[in-house]
Amino acid sequence: MCGIVGYIGKRDVAPLLLEGLQRLEYRGYDSAGIALHTGGKTGGLKTAKAKGRVRELESRLPKRFAGTVGIAHTRWATHGAPNDLNAHPHQDATGKVAIVHNGIIDNATALRAKLVADNVEFISDTDSEVLAHLIGRSTAETLEERVREALRLIEGTYGIAVLHADFPDRIVAARNGSPVVLGIGEKEMFVSSDVAALVSHTRQVVTLDDGEMATVKADDYRTYTTEGSRTSASPTTVEWEAESYDMGGHDTYMHKEICEQPDAVDRVLRGRIDDRFSTVHLGGLNLDAREARGVRRVKILGCGSAYHTGLIGAQLIEELARIPADAEPASEFRYRNAVVDPDTLYIAVSQSGETYDTLAAVQELKRKGARVLGVVNVVGSAIARETDGGVYVHAGPEVCVVSTKCFTNTAVAFALLALHLGRIRDLSVADGKRIIAGLRKLPEQIAEVLSGEEEIKKLAALYADAKSMMFIGRVRGYPVAREASLKLKEVSYVHAEAYPASELKHGPLALIEPEVPTVAVLPDDDLLEKNRATLEEIKARSGRILAVAHQEQEKADHTILVPRNEVELDPILMGIPLQLLAYHSALALGRDIDKPRNLAKSVTVE
Ligand code: AGP
Repeated sequence: MCGIVGYIGKRDVAPLLLEGLQRLEYRGYDSAGIALHTGGKTGGLKTAKAKGRVRELESRLPKRFAGTVGIAHTRWATHGAPNDLNAHPHQDATGKVAIVHNGIIDNATALRAKLVADNVEFISDTDSEVLAHLIGRSTAETLEERVREALRLIEGTYGIAVLHADFPDRIVAARNGSPVVLGIGEKEMFVSSDVAALVSHTRQVVTLDDGEMATVKADDYRTYTTEGSRTSASPTTVEWEAESYDMGGHDTYMHKEICEQPDAVDRVLRGRIDDRFSTVHLGGLNLDAREARGVRRVKILGCGSAYHTGLIGAQLIEELARIPADAEPASEFRYRNAVVDPDTLYIAVSQSGETYDTLAAVQELKRKGARVLGVVNVVGSAIARETDGGVYVHAGPEVCVVSTKCFTNTAVAFALLALHLGRIRDLSVADGKRIIAGLRKLPEQIAEVLSGEEEIKKLAALYADAKSMMFIGRVRGYPVAREASLKLKEVSYVHAEAYPASELKHGPLALIEPEVPTVAVLPDDDLLEKNRATLEEIKARSGRILAVAHQEQEKADHTILVPRNEVELDPILMGIPLQLLAYHSALALGRDIDKPRNLAKSVTVE
């Protein structure tokens, strides 16, 4: 949600910042802007901003716009419409301060009113501008102290980078609830909200903690708390290569990421399977066998697609480990004063590891003394750091706003966790072997499903006229239906509903007509006959049916065939063709696939 990039060094800063912004555009893309030092002690700050995409900003940069120190931002609007004035960086009245801000200042209205009463003129409708004025009005000696004074006055979340005309040798950054990383180069440094903007320049990074600030100079950085005490943050190496952020010959990141799934699944399995004991090793779990046996319930928390993988995870844990398990949207859980039970194992699931609602749920649980594990993709992210242990899903960077490979890899990570817990409890060696064999088959089977893309593309064209789509599935098929419905909505803007197939006749059947086709997820399990009866009911109301199944379905108008695996793993494979269906529906409708309207990757605000 919004992207920040900053640079200090010897290179021409504007092209560097534009490149960084392009890499961050997936975090927000309704406006963008740059502020830079024009150089030397006598130089001042110059800014350029534009509504729309980064390419719009690029085309509007003034001719003379050079410097070697600057900060930039790409925005996902929270306060104030997306327009030139609300774009960051924001400045104070003197024009000496420029700030970029991610997060939300909760008491901005009150602070603004005070400043206005003091004759401060505001240019924008944003909460962030308050911060620029507060820093600008401080008379403290150092920039660090001025920023600190301003931060003391604000309530809310922030990841910020600050430039000041009188302090041309530094960028000051601070974090509270919104990620900030420093990129350490050779006589040059970067500041960003995301390693994506840094990895083509350096893979040495320092991640700020909440409540931490940094002074970044070309050849040095210092970190300290917002209270001023020094902290020791040493650089770590980012494992993702710069190339993993490129499109790699595909037209969109979504397509690239769908196609990467065989390799991604191979990665999440690699080095974890233990054939000798028919189990898996999950190094970072921090849960020994005795503790695992003591778990009486599992509660999985996540948002959006992550929540849907949680639904799959809960089923896998119940089936393989026979521990009662369920999943709940983290966004709901944190507000309902849930009873926190010491024998329950809580699992927070998140691709980015930064989703505010999920992070807040983790913090609430930790405050109440619960044990929380993370199932996370981004190594070292906030959720990964705040949980007691967990499983990395190793999907590689996911750039498209719409999650695909991370969804699949997270579901596989849950299968590994369920197998691990199961083998500590009552899952037999034979069943362990069976699941392991099934897991090993997945990469090849996913590739087989992907090879059917042309057929799925034709089907997407056939169903592109739908006024709405119904997605249904029973038990194992239901989370798949939910995720497929979300995928279609997000990327094609076609309205879609997802229901358990068993619930159809309790209401939603009223919606069925030829213009409202149904996508039915029909694994060949013991519920197949019941699912077929549901198809009869839809057909009797002239509904069109597209089935995803292991065998041709007579009642369906079309069937997408998926290879058979172990029944417990069906949800993993059955989701793949529906990602392609959403993708090709969006393509047929001419949508902006990687940057769907109104959305952004990583929802780091409430
Ligand atoms: C997925 O396609 C979505 N864009 C969205 O639902 C996402 O899964 C959700 O916001 C959670 O994100 P996270 O996995 O980074 O926590």
